[in-house]
Amino acid sequence: MREIKNVTVLGSGLMGNGLAQVFAQCEDIQVILRSRSMKDDPLGPVRKNLELLQSKDAMTKEEADGILSRIRFTDDLAASLADADFVIECVVENMEIKQNLFRDIEPLCKPDAIFATNTSVMSITEIASKTKDKSRVVGAHFWNPPYLIPLVEVVKAEETSEETMELTMELLRRAKKRPVRCQKDVPGFIANRLQHAIWREALSIVENGIADPATVDEALRYGPGLRWPILGILENADMIGLDLSLSIQSYIVKYLEDSHEPSKLLKELVEKGDLGFKTGKGYQTWTPEQIEASTRRLKEYLIEVTKDLK
Ligand SMILES: NC(=O)c1ccc[n+]([C@@H]2O[C@H](COP(=O)([O-])OP(=O)(O)OC[C@H]3O[C@@H](n4cnc5c(N)ncnc54)[C@H](O)[C@@H]3O)[C@@H](O)[C@H]2O)c1
Repeated sequence: MREIKNVTVLGSGLMGNGLAQVFAQCEDIQVILRSRSMKDDPLGPVRKNLELLQSKDAMTKEEADGILSRIRFTDDLAASLADADFVIECVVENMEIKQNLFRDIEPLCKPDAIFATNTSVMSITEIASKTKDKSRVVGAHFWNPPYLIPLVEVVKAEETSEETMELTMELLRRAKKRPVRCQKDVPGFIANRLQHAIWREALSIVENGIADPATVDEALRYGPGLRWPILGILENADMIGLDLSLSIQSYIVKYLEDSHEPSKLLKELVEKGDLGFKTGKGYQTWTPEQIEASTRRLKEYLIEVTKDLK
């Protein structure tokens, strides 16, 4: 199988910066981060992430310097693509912009370059619709912050070739990520479907007065949430026994939320302007100190649990 040596990241927002950092972790990969305009200190966000990792002893200075030395920033689209083996777009979540981007870069790239999209929810098949060679288009859905969350969902669109899937999986393994194959191009891929099923139930529990938001989170964090990093959910079912699993599911499934509409409570909060951390009030009320502590706790936890994956 051919080896990917040059990666180009298109779009230097929140995800683009993180992705450039992830790919530059491979000592044999050169990364170009392409933005529509030049910036002052273009690698500032990456440097900040690397400083945090070093302060927590999750990375040495030599490793951080190596990562920075392998990323080049440019606003020149054609030059950023000429040698690329793998191009990943992280531009705004807009179907037409993503479709046109792949259509426009195709003549500027090598004929076997892979085109990956980091779309959160949109159809990869539809994004590929204006690309001539659709076998080279694949979904590569990272999670934020991409340099700390290992999961990447590699999504097979209708015409994605097996070679494109395998090369993408292999590249992500080299970058110390945990790629998983999503065999069908469905909304939400795998992990967002799981997350939204739980979200729907969590909101229904609150709306029906069964528990308040803080209690729902407590039940998840100190209960099943502790098992999931070790067992997942289906291995856990195998552990308890499928006969018991069937009895439980047969009894409970009729009582679970099955609405196909967004939650009434969620709509009401948004209409009131209660948007969560950004307004200081969402399902719960948040002081600036609590917001800072929550964000820091998450990063510190992720750094700790992913140290061994580096
Ligand atoms: N933020 C997340 O948590 C997250 C997680 C997974 C996937 N994603 C996906 O990653 C992609 C980027 O998200 P982000 O959070 O980095 O957004 P962002 O707003 O931080 O960055 C978007 C980038 O797109 C560029 N851009 C805007 N309009 C453009 C255009 N017309 N042509 C080319 N470039 C344009 C902007 O200059 C910016 O660099 C989206 O598809 C998003 O759905 C985001």
